[in-house]
Amino acid sequence: MRKADSSQFRPAGVADGKLELVSFREDGEHVIEGILKVGGTDNWFPILQGVPSFLTGPLRPDLQDFCGRHGLALPADAPAASTKLEQAKTNETFSDKWRRFKTYGLQPEHEDFLFGWYCKKFALPDREALKAFYRDRERVLEVGPGSGFNTRFIAQNCKGHVTALDISDAAFTTFGNTSALLNCTTVQADLMDAPFADGTFDFIIADGVLHHTPDTKAAVNALYRKLRPGGQFFFYVYRKMGAARQFCDAMIREHFTKLTPEECYAACEGLTVLGRELSKLNATITLDTPIPVLGIPAGTHDVQRLIYYNFVKCFWNDSFDFETNNMVNFDWYHPHNAWQHTQEEVAGWLEELGVTTYQFNDSNPNGISVLLTKPKV
Ligand SMILES: C[S@@+](CC[C@H](N)C(=O)[O-])C[C@H]1O[C@@H](n2cnc3c(N)ncnc32)[C@H](O)[C@@H]1O
Repeated sequence: MRKADSSQFRPAGVADGKLELVSFREDGEHVIEGILKVGGTDNWFPILQGVPSFLTGPLRPDLQDFCGRHGLALPADAPAASTKLEQAKTNETFSDKWRRFKTYGLQPEHEDFLFGWYCKKFALPDREALKAFYRDRERVLEVGPGSGFNTRFIAQNCKGHVTALDISDAAFTTFGNTSALLNCTTVQADLMDAPFADGTFDFIIADGVLHHTPDTKAAVNALYRKLRPGGQFFFYVYRKMGAARQFCDAMIREHFTKLTPEECYAACEGLTVLGRELSKLNATITLDTPIPVLGIPAGTHDVQRLIYYNFVKCFWNDSFDFETNNMVNFDWYHPHNAWQHTQEEVAGWLEELGVTTYQFNDSNPNGISVLLTKPKV
């Protein structure tokens, strides 16, 4: 975190928003270890590995060693809601994942797939149009950046400042991958308590994130408050799928969410091999009529995709190595919170918020891509 960055934070419960920066260790322009003291109180937030952390209660990183080294007493906590405990379990999945896959999306062979997919999510024709989409943004918030590959892309292509916010150890991976960019800040926080004033950002993106919180709709509402009038908000959430896929998912999750990350990676390998071998077939079948009970439309289907979308997650993509493909399957089956929604449900949330300008972009059968604009008045 650069010293000047501390002025942008407004954590909830900090009366006049004043935070005093105390630096313990620096590396160039970044404070690597320090605290942000809350004016007029004994409370403080740590800066760990270059990242200010605004997590409290069961979500807070272990600070015993940090407090010991700097002669600090742990800040007092209010009793934690049960939803925070559920979120803490979900964080175990993602902290582990983003400590292992630090370069996901940053390798050239990943970029075509991932940025091609962003073009679909925003209904844009190509990567140049994607760059143009970001060009005039002034205050961008990426929520749940994972490795930070997209945060880096946005920061490289917009004229303003990009803030990345993640609740898990992904925040440290994102910082590692973006700290050289002058227009980029990373924070560790729960998106439900994002430490920014309402109406701060002109673009917010949360790709594959909100369904991993205790309540997807509450997550949409919490981030919408941080958007300025006229600003845009993109989010992608899991879509409720057909009966067979739902049945398999529920059964597999029942087992896999109880495994350690290590055990779950091993347990996913069979699914990943299935995806790879089906993919090798390079075969299609044509269905003249749809199968509504399974959610399968009529038409020509690639066999691997047909099974993947409608029966069991067995992701395979030739541009990823085996471990990365396996991680995509792990990412589906291990998180404690992983809600699925219908487009009608999401449209209802937007109506309640008074959003009239929005589009659902067709990006893949398993997800709902939403790009909305907040009304100006
Ligand atoms: C599936 S990963 C998606 C990462 C990235 N957007 C991508 O598409 O590769 C979900 C990310 O959301 C983060 N996340 C989950 N719940 C969160 C919350 N309540 N607040 C902030 N981040 C959260 C996780 O830590 C994780 O890094």
